[in-house]
Amino acid sequence: MLTQVQNVLEAAQEAIKTASSQEQLEKNYIDLFGKKGKFTELSKSISKIPSEQKAEFGKSLNQAKQQILAGFEKQKKEILSGGGKQKIDITAPGKRPQIGHLHLVSQAIDEIVDIFKRIGFSLKSYPEVDWDWYAFESLNMPKDHPARDEWETFFVKSKRHATLGNQVLTPHTSNGQVREMKRVKNPPIRMLNISRCYRRQVDVSHTPMFHQFEGMLIDKNVAISNLKGTLDYFARKFFGKERKSRLRPHHFRFTEPSFEVDVTCGVCLGHGCRFCKSGWVELGGAGMVHPNVIKAGGLDPKKYTGFAFGWGVERTIAMRTEIGDIRLLFQNDIRFLEQF
Ligand code: DAH
Repeated sequence: MLTQVQNVLEAAQEAIKTASSQEQLEKNYIDLFGKKGKFTELSKSISKIPSEQKAEFGKSLNQAKQQILAGFEKQKKEILSGGGKQKIDITAPGKRPQIGHLHLVSQAIDEIVDIFKRIGFSLKSYPEVDWDWYAFESLNMPKDHPARDEWETFFVKSKRHATLGNQVLTPHTSNGQVREMKRVKNPPIRMLNISRCYRRQVDVSHTPMFHQFEGMLIDKNVAISNLKGTLDYFARKFFGKERKSRLRPHHFRFTEPSFEVDVTCGVCLGHGCRFCKSGWVELGGAGMVHPNVIKAGGLDPKKYTGFAFGWGVERTIAMRTEIGDIRLLFQNDIRFLEQF
């Protein structure tokens, strides 16, 4: 009986050593240890041998099994490491490394810049931490004006400037309006200011840090129709050919008249549905730049007029992509971000 064990062991070792692939190795394993495997059969034969030989037979079976299993392990490593024997199939398709892409917000910013560039607006960047004067006061929002409460601003601990006041994290990109007028001095001005903004607010449609894009055009004889044309152009380019915009009367201190801008709903295209109810969804604010703001920018409001608008980038994205919760954009969950 012991020679039978020896024979199975030797045959197994030979087969294992010559296996050149994992599949072959698996087949060898089944040939030995499967239901009808050689080793399985051998183990079963223990019932037929005289009881005084059973202990010795059992021991040699165990030893043989350990050796065979060790042989499998060794050969498996050899195969996986190439072992110098394995052929490389150079025609097999390669494995592509995973390539990342820009964040959805960055993609949208690039697209928005591109859309406005085509009609002559150039990208400007103004401070994220700015003086109260640029963020509020120069925009016709005097201190203690109740409208300022709506902005829910973060104040920065810093020395108060005699004329510019305290420093704040910019609650909107409108702080760029007067800065741009002062920089250019001689209109025409066609600015697109995109920046991070900050407000004390968190819910499904608000995050404390968000992005706004602010357009401003100052020139001679600028009319509301120019604003409307610009908004329609943007709505068509960003949301799709069939989308339209409308102006709804509103109030902002820095524009007169002021509007809220709506775009036809992407689901029902303006007919009215469960999602939008009225057929329109709100994009953001706009208006004709207030004469006091033009004056604060060092220009003559009798000579120049202009329009401005300011919208949230995240909100604009959510209106096109139908993201139910804006906070998802900044939670850095790769499963969400990979979808865009
Ligand atoms: N700054 C306003 C806000 O954050 C939005 C806005 C309204 C910007 C009207 C404008 C404007 O330029 O004309 O809510």
